[in-house]
Amino acid sequence: MILVALLEVNDLSTHYFLKESRVRAVDNVSFTVERGKMLGLAGESGCGKTTVALSIIRMLPPAGKIITGEILLDNIDLLKKSKEEMRKTRWLDVSYVFQYAMNAFNPVMNVGEQITEVIIEKGGIKSRSIKKEAWKQVRELFEIVGLDPERVKNYPHEFSGGMKQRAIIAMAMACNPKLLIADEPVTALDVIVEKKILNLLKKLQKDFNLGVIFITHDLSVIAESCEEVGIMYAGKLVEVGSATTIFHNGAHPYTKMLIKAFPSILGEKTYIEPLEGIPPDLANPPTGCRFHPRCPLAIDECKKKVPFFKQYSSSRHLVACYRAGEKII
Ligand SMILES: Nc1ncnc2c1ncn2[C@@H]1O[C@H](COP(=O)(O)OP(=O)(O)OP(=O)(O)O)[C@@H](O)[C@H]1O
Ligand code: SF4
Ligand SMILES: [Mg+2]
Repeated sequence: MILVALLEVNDLSTHYFLKESRVRAVDNVSFTVERGKMLGLAGESGCGKTTVALSIIRMLPPAGKIITGEILLDNIDLLKKSKEEMRKTRWLDVSYVFQYAMNAFNPVMNVGEQITEVIIEKGGIKSRSIKKEAWKQVRELFEIVGLDPERVKNYPHEFSGGMKQRAIIAMAMACNPKLLIADEPVTALDVIVEKKILNLLKKLQKDFNLGVIFITHDLSVIAESCEEVGIMYAGKLVEVGSATTIFHNGAHPYTKMLIKAFPSILGEKTYIEPLEGIPPDLANPPTGCRFHPRCPLAIDECKKKVPFFKQYSSSRHLVACYRAGEKII
């Protein structure tokens, strides 16, 4: 029996069509997410992480269009689903904790009521006393995410930032999805709360055999929590592999430079080497390898031809670079 990945993203390109330009936010990106595993997607601001996530759940803003690719969830292409079918898939099969999610709740409705709406709308309840059953589920969800079930009728403003984030995660888990996409879920939180939320996501991942895509620009958070890591640069996935491989045997110059900018990751350095320069404008990206203007190893070929993903240290470690693994002086 061939085991298929929970999620397979193949050759995804998503662009934003503006009046005078086309922003190539995501180009030819491919990766997989396994059941019960967490994939961390990292890269500097504007490299296309959120656009990948919004493409998967098909909630792009009007200017955003998926140009090529397939997105297979349990071997079914989400891009072939009708709008109505996709509406059903969201929350039921794949749910999403938005970047800046803490403002996601409606301030004039209590939190529990908002979660019951998701449960009822998605038809997750068979019983005749639907509302009563939905409230029972909300209480259970509160317990799962470490919130006091007595507080289900509290309003969003009565919750702290960390509690709100737990409630958002409860809502994302309301229909027992297979895949959870968490876009910068801990960025706005202090480090202690951040750690607790990360532990919660890890627990849910294990208890529910949940596939998770964890998006962040902070590699040290990924080092702590993810089994797999994908590094994005300027709309491209430049390296993907297990966390151990990426952090100890990362082969793309950008990966290496990004890791050096987070000294706490390997625990052996006491100074930071900040990344020089800024990512390019994706309305007019550099030719060839998009990293070449910042890359200390760039050669002529890098400016002319796009490097494709190639197997590096194992079948699951892929790198897009002509000089993968070479030492950066
Ligand atoms: N609605 C939009 N219209 C036009 N361009 C957009 C839109 N949303 C994003 N972009 C552009 O697409 C590119 C990728 O943006 P995206 O938000 O996916 O990056 P990101 O990696 O999530 O960044 P951040 O870490 O800041 O959240 C950027 O160049 C951004 O300016
Ligand atoms: S392909 Fe060339 S420019 Fe791009 S990362 Fe590799 S060496 Fe640097
Ligand atoms: Mg983002």
